[in-house]
Amino acid sequence: MFKENLRRTAEVKGTRIVLALDLQGGIYTKPKSMRAELKQELLAKAYNIISEVESYIAAVKIGLPLVLDVGLDSVDQIISSFKPKMLFICDFKTADVGFINKLVANQVFSIGFDAIIVHPMVGVVEGIKPVSELAHNLGKGVLAVCAMTHLGAQSFLNKHFKELLKLACEAEADGFILPATYPEYISEARRLYRDALIMSPGVGAQGAAYGSAIKAGADFEIVGRAIYDASNPRKVAEDVVKAVEEAVKQG
Ligand code: XMP
Repeated sequence: MFKENLRRTAEVKGTRIVLALDLQGGIYTKPKSMRAELKQELLAKAYNIISEVESYIAAVKIGLPLVLDVGLDSVDQIISSFKPKMLFICDFKTADVGFINKLVANQVFSIGFDAIIVHPMVGVVEGIKPVSELAHNLGKGVLAVCAMTHLGAQSFLNKHFKELLKLACEAEADGFILPATYPEYISEARRLYRDALIMSPGVGAQGAAYGSAIKAGADFEIVGRAIYDASNPRKVAEDVVKAVEEAVKQG
């Protein structure tokens, strides 16, 4: 259901962009007396950015930076304010034993997240399978990190990319997270798993060109800093959608 909802939303809006909303105010590094006000400022910023770009994005990905600063109640409010115009993906890259992964997933699904990102390297049985079982009972999704964007990922994680894809499939994950900075992994995953949902970070701030991951076989590109740090996020989001369309047209 998550996959279908995401694809439908993307098709209706004509976009294959997911916004990574990693806003952070370092609120807990500040004196306690300042925190409430800073939290309100950060929340206002989050609302403004999503409102500005909502017609250009299919989903918002929220991870620890924002959750740790504003808390789950505030994230709950953000999600309720913008659903069903977009989906929400929780990026905690969960990598614990299944019992704990499932506790975490249950919390984030309960406040309205549509999917959660996990590390399949912890294994299927008593690892990520409990998360996918819970997710599917609730009509939610699980996305598995099978290779990463940064240089250090090449020294270990990315070497095991095919095994990670296999573990993700065994656990019935709904999709793979694969790096735009190493498009060869995207092409290979697409070749091996024709119908898989593939989402790729790494475009924009991390250097890969907009549209490059989709050209390699991804369904969605995840964009963070390039949009939320821009002086005009709406304009950047619009340009990114156009650049992706153009790149895809050119093949
Ligand atoms: P930027 O600001 O670089 O944000 O556009 C990228 C977002 O994607 C996340 N990220 C990754 N997530 N595998 C993942 O699952 C990766 O290889 C990877 N690289 C970046 C990052 O957390 C940020 O939200």
